[in-house]
Amino acid sequence: MLISVLRNALPSIEEVATASLPDLLAMMRDLGILLGSVKRHGVEPVAVAPELEEVLPLIARRSGMVIPRDTIYHYVLWNPVGPRERLYTGLPMERMLMSAVRVALPMLSTAVDVCTSLDDATPGELAFATSVNELATLVGTMRDSMDLVIANVGPEFFARTMRPYFQDIRVGDDTWLGPAAAHVPVALIDLRVWASDHADDCYLDFVDHSAWYALERWRPLYRDWQRGPSLVSRVVEALERHPRQDVPYVINASAEALCRTMRALTVFRGKHLSIAREAYAPDTGLYELGSGGGSVALLENVMNQARDMATLVRLNTSGTRRRRTGKPPRGGKPSCEF
Ligand code: HEM
Repeated sequence: MLISVLRNALPSIEEVATASLPDLLAMMRDLGILLGSVKRHGVEPVAVAPELEEVLPLIARRSGMVIPRDTIYHYVLWNPVGPRERLYTGLPMERMLMSAVRVALPMLSTAVDVCTSLDDATPGELAFATSVNELATLVGTMRDSMDLVIANVGPEFFARTMRPYFQDIRVGDDTWLGPAAAHVPVALIDLRVWASDHADDCYLDFVDHSAWYALERWRPLYRDWQRGPSLVSRVVEALERHPRQDVPYVINASAEALCRTMRALTVFRGKHLSIAREAYAPDTGLYELGSGGGSVALLENVMNQARDMATLVRLNTSGTRRRRTGKPPRGGKPSCEF
């Protein structure tokens, strides 16, 4: 039954070749629900509908996406709310899970814009301090998003009912991850804020991989922001140029704002980690890895790094400042699986 629905939903190559952008996004979104549903029953979609091998890459290419299947953006951003909302299960908890991503995405998108605007500003400029303050508020919505999940989505529901729909599928010679909240642009914001010159190779590999699943306009940023000093390095360096008692007011304001941003990132991660631990506990979870291809160990590792960064900025900013540079353990690949 499901397989014939999938086959019947397949657009022709001609339809894909002439479709408008909104139609392409809708096509991929609707096919995505069917791809995940077929895979949930243990069947590779291309094995039962070989036309997908041609159709999926063409839709992706024409809509500016790299991977030949649906993403978190199709599932949440380009999915209407209300009776026309496309859902795998139709259950209220699925809607709540999607809402948690829906409330965060516009804020994260604006946060990426704010990070871009910081390219040319320095910690001694008021514009820098005000933008980083805005960033802290925007990133702070990730806490609300996690609170929504904690209050409304049971870990067992995620683990046993939803997670099976988010499995990877094979298209061409590769397998491609399904819609994963891990692909919202938190990793991109991390790169700019602290990760470009402080994260370990394990997290940077995860960030690289996430870039494939990102929106077209963000993909060059994933590449560019791997280089260059992070906001943490820029602020710490600006603080170090002055004796503690003579740090200019605006540089202190920039540092305080960065503390708030780092705190917001660690508060999100603390809440998120407790949800992930419950959902992937051996007696609850059905899978070892998350839908974004990463493990709970990866989350713990990123959490520890983000917390170290928050401490670094705080130590350099507080009255009893002990200056530290906190260079990362780069070089050599740590034994991690993301
Ligand atoms: C029951 C709900 C959830 C569970 C069990 C869960 C679990 C996980 C796991 C295991 C990972 C590791 C990487 C991977 O995806 O493979 C991960 C990553 C991630 N998830 Fe979730 N997640 C949930 C909901 C959410 C929501 C609602 C958001 C955002 C609105 C989110 C944002 C992220 C991000 C940004 C990452 C990348 C790693 C990081 O930045 O720390 N997750 N999640």
